[in-house]
Amino acid sequence: MQHTETTSSHIAEYNSGQEEQWQLKESGIVHDLGNLIQVASSALSLVTRDASVMATPALQPLLIGASTALQRAGVLVRETLTRNRCEPCKLELTDVAECLREISALVKGACDSTVVVEIHAGNNLPAVSCDHQALQNAILNLVFNARDAMPDGGLITIDAALGAPTSDAQVELTVRDTGVGMSSETARRAFDLFFTTKGNGIGGVGLAMVKHFVDTCGGRVDIDSRLGTGTIVILRLPVARPEFNGTRL
Ligand SMILES: Nc1ncnc2c1ncn2[C@@H]1O[C@H](COP(=O)(O)OP(=O)(O)OP(=O)(O)O)[C@@H](O)[C@H]1O
Ligand SMILES: [Mg+2]
Repeated sequence: MQHTETTSSHIAEYNSGQEEQWQLKESGIVHDLGNLIQVASSALSLVTRDASVMATPALQPLLIGASTALQRAGVLVRETLTRNRCEPCKLELTDVAECLREISALVKGACDSTVVVEIHAGNNLPAVSCDHQALQNAILNLVFNARDAMPDGGLITIDAALGAPTSDAQVELTVRDTGVGMSSETARRAFDLFFTTKGNGIGGVGLAMVKHFVDTCGGRVDIDSRLGTGTIVILRLPVARPEFNGTRL
């Protein structure tokens, strides 16, 4: 009897562990799906801003249909994330400069010709411990926000540098824009899940994901924004300790 109880409790434990693993996996897939939807939405909104494209009668309904489909996909992502807030995360040795190199074409491609993007990464930056792909998704989210804040164009600067010497070594990744900036109320709520001032996009998921990402790797994120001047977002990512080889949380 004792044995049966122990066995069934082991099975229950095993099942709940399996369920948790599946839940984590599902959240990860949905999160990545949300980022891909953002990339497709950005490309589509660039295309629809082209007057010659919109002047072609046969294309208009197709583009409007595609845009509606992406908006619905975004709603499904949002609903799924609400049901399942937990995100998978892993810590690995990540080279911030390499992350930037890998996504620079995507970053520049997401912006139209009125937006200039400058990317600078310091030489010999130490590795940080965070999820490589999640860092790239975080940068993309910040770039999309910067681009959206500059409807008439402007400058986006992305800098990676070693933080000022403190007790904990950090790499600082800064995304600056010369856009519309945020009111103090918007800046206060910017990281809240589903807080948005935009009618398009998935709607208030981007910065919540950025915050979740920095929290999971033991870093922090700060915003400095002025209405009419622009916004600076700084990700402070902990430098990996020499003995660190990467681990799953
Ligand atoms: N660089 C920025 N300049 C001005 N406002 C910003 C900037 N970044 C964020 N915001 C403000 O913070 C809000 C929340 O940003 P967040 O990225 O979480 O959501 P979103 O961009 O509205 O939608 P999503 O990212 O899910 O498509 C934005 O709606 C916007 O009002
Ligand atoms: Mg956003």
